[in-house]
Amino acid sequence: MSRLVVISNRVAAPTGSHSGAQGGLAVALQAALLEHGGVWFGWSGERTDEYTGEINYTEGFGVTTATIDLEDQDIEEYYDGYANRTLWPLFHYRIDLAEYERGFADGYQRTNERFADSVRPLIGEGDAVWIQDYHMIPLGQELRKRGVKNRMGFFLHIPWPPRRLLSTLPHAAELATTLFAYDVVGFHTREWLESFQDFATKELGATLGEGGVLTLGDRTVTAIACPIGIDTTEFVEASRGVNARLAYRRMRDSADGRDMIVGVDRLDYSKGLEERFLGYERFLEEHPDQRKEVFLLQIAPPSRASVESYRKIRSTLDAMSGRINGAFADTDWVPIRYVNQGYPRDVLAGIYRAAKIGLVTPLRDGMNLVAKEYVAAQDPEDPGVLILSRFAGAAEQLTQAVLINPYSAEEMADAISMALAMPKAERIERWRALMDNIEQEDVLWWRDRFAAALMAA
Ligand code: G6P
Repeated sequence: MSRLVVISNRVAAPTGSHSGAQGGLAVALQAALLEHGGVWFGWSGERTDEYTGEINYTEGFGVTTATIDLEDQDIEEYYDGYANRTLWPLFHYRIDLAEYERGFADGYQRTNERFADSVRPLIGEGDAVWIQDYHMIPLGQELRKRGVKNRMGFFLHIPWPPRRLLSTLPHAAELATTLFAYDVVGFHTREWLESFQDFATKELGATLGEGGVLTLGDRTVTAIACPIGIDTTEFVEASRGVNARLAYRRMRDSADGRDMIVGVDRLDYSKGLEERFLGYERFLEEHPDQRKEVFLLQIAPPSRASVESYRKIRSTLDAMSGRINGAFADTDWVPIRYVNQGYPRDVLAGIYRAAKIGLVTPLRDGMNLVAKEYVAAQDPEDPGVLILSRFAGAAEQLTQAVLINPYSAEEMADAISMALAMPKAERIERWRALMDNIEQEDVLWWRDRFAAALMAA
């Protein structure tokens, strides 16, 4: 197999272990690279006074990571700006939060050109180049301009929004056209793929042929749905390790015989945390008899705090958790344990295993790997129940979860009540079906399937 050059905004130094606290994408990419080795290029996460493009290398487990520092203006306009104030909200169907500023678009373009200049010399003949996520949509086109003829793929880890929403973005057509610089473009679900095909055919005038091949002028791109998974073997192993077992014990002890409901999300408005609290509150109101038999542990590490909408959702949730706890708590029980810090993944595995319900209720989500990790961490003899939003990409695969509409507090309350009462036989049956999918369609399956499409293109 040719060498793989993976490019993403976030890069995690491979550690060969599962103890680090990271976002799901970085963890998945690490797993995808470890087996065959390769190069992983991106932003260091650090700022520099003056941009130089100098590359910092680290080596480990057969993977070379190559990162560059960015200057303040790049971070403000590219990362905080176009990536997280323009594209992220818009692609999660929140045009009400999307900010359209020419300065953001210019900074995004400039930073992608900088990435292209830096990574260009690292790409050898015969390497396959695989670019990840919304931070870097135009990077492929910039690399082509710099003479890169290699096979090149792009993967979008967030939803592709419906055509009518995307049309509100200034220069949306130009941005979408840059995707034709790739040989293959991947999405997690059929829904996101169809939205892209719809935009490409109706707004750009592309034609859709066999096997998802889109043609625009003299360029063709194969667009596919290819859902990402977790590193299931590793995660199951981690969930049996000593840190997981300690975390499990600690949670069971502190639960004091009560059923735990768990949610783990970056503190992001797309995750439906407000709606989750409201649905849970509704459950408490409607089931006074069950109140003190459960509690919700919501782990929500702060994210992208330099962006106003993230500061806002944080203060909203502070207020909501305070209000709900004030209204329902007793001297020996609080309904919500709301925690604003992250935990290592093996500790999370133990916490998931101790939870009777995994509550995953994003309003929109490209995939959602927490849902898969929750399932993988369960005890096969006595598994918990996954309650999952229909609007998470994961719902296309995890059809045996209790699927709900997160906008309906009633539906969420009913699902919680139903899950708490679910007989063991049904829990096992649903879990087995979910686990079959998570075992088969894991992160290596995802990588290999995408790589096969790239080789075939
Ligand atoms: C989502 C995105 C990733 C991103 C992650 C964490 O999963 O799809 O590209 O890395 O969130 O967000 P952050 O802004 O901290 O990288």
